[in-house]
Amino acid sequence: MMYNLLKGKRGIILGALDSKSIAWKVAERAHEEGAIFVLSNAPVALRLGTIAELAEKTGSEVIAADATSIMDLEDLVDGAVKILGGKIDFVLHSIGMSVNVRRGNHYTHQDYNFTKTGFDVSALSFHRLMSVLYQRDAMNEWGSIVALSYMAAQRVFPDYNDMADNKAYLESVARSFGYFFGRDKKVRVNTISQSPTPTTAGSGVKGFDGFIAYAEQMSPLGNATALECADYTISLFSDLTKKVTLQNLFHDGGFSNMGVSNAIMDNFMKDFQPEETKVVEEPKKTK
Ligand SMILES: NC(=O)c1ccc[n+]([C@@H]2O[C@H](COP(=O)([O-])OP(=O)(O)OC[C@H]3O[C@@H](n4cnc5c(N)ncnc54)[C@H](O)[C@@H]3O)[C@@H](O)[C@H]2O)c1
Repeated sequence: MMYNLLKGKRGIILGALDSKSIAWKVAERAHEEGAIFVLSNAPVALRLGTIAELAEKTGSEVIAADATSIMDLEDLVDGAVKILGGKIDFVLHSIGMSVNVRRGNHYTHQDYNFTKTGFDVSALSFHRLMSVLYQRDAMNEWGSIVALSYMAAQRVFPDYNDMADNKAYLESVARSFGYFFGRDKKVRVNTISQSPTPTTAGSGVKGFDGFIAYAEQMSPLGNATALECADYTISLFSDLTKKVTLQNLFHDGGFSNMGVSNAIMDNFMKDFQPEETKVVEEPKKTK
């Protein structure tokens, strides 16, 4: 469905790797809603991914930027303002990567150099990006900045590893920077806490298949897809959500407020035996 919600708006979308990426779907939807934007990803992702196809489809230019480099981000923001012909109305930060997860290091046995890299890419990059936008005064009034998060920032998901800590920082930065951006530039900053989604980053988490199936059964509306996440993101970029800021917004089919669902309980009960009915086998006597 198209509503022209972003007609005449200019944006920067970071993190579209391939057609599964959440950022990819946001770009497609933003294009449908009338926005113009610049796409960006790390130089290596531009080589490995298929972003050129998205650029072609949406009539966008691509600017390579490693989100750990302030100079790259400065070039990105300056380039976007020039290409799009004015200040920016919306920015999507859809970037995440943990080296510990990739290398299979357990949370209790991290390589702290990997931890630092993952933090730099996944969390600090959001502060860095906003810092460049703020200092360059590159955002239009009533603009909107969104980053993607996950509920492991609040609750324990053992295999989410150090990304949990990165997301906690990311959400905190949305509040802290969001205050200054709101006060000084009338720009809103929020994070969307999305359901598990089958993307390159998502599928990298250990046991992802079981994990996504569990969330599906737990959520009254089922898991939110990447496209549904894009729709929600578009609403946050539109003028219909002008006073929503400093929020972490759950987009998860209701998962975050569930204790247990009937579906999960039914599955659990299949193999469950109450203590008193358990048949205790006598140890076999050996002659
Ligand atoms: N997939 C899920 O289950 C899920 C759930 C909640 C939140 N998220 C978040 O959504 C966001 C997007 O992830 P996705 O699921 O679409 O996966 P994805 O793998 O398609 O996107 C991750 C992106 O981060 C980019 N990236 C990595 N290092 C970078 C760097 N140094 N500089 C610039 N970009 C870099 C990658 O190139 C890639 O495009 C991430 O923040 C992720 O944590 C994902």
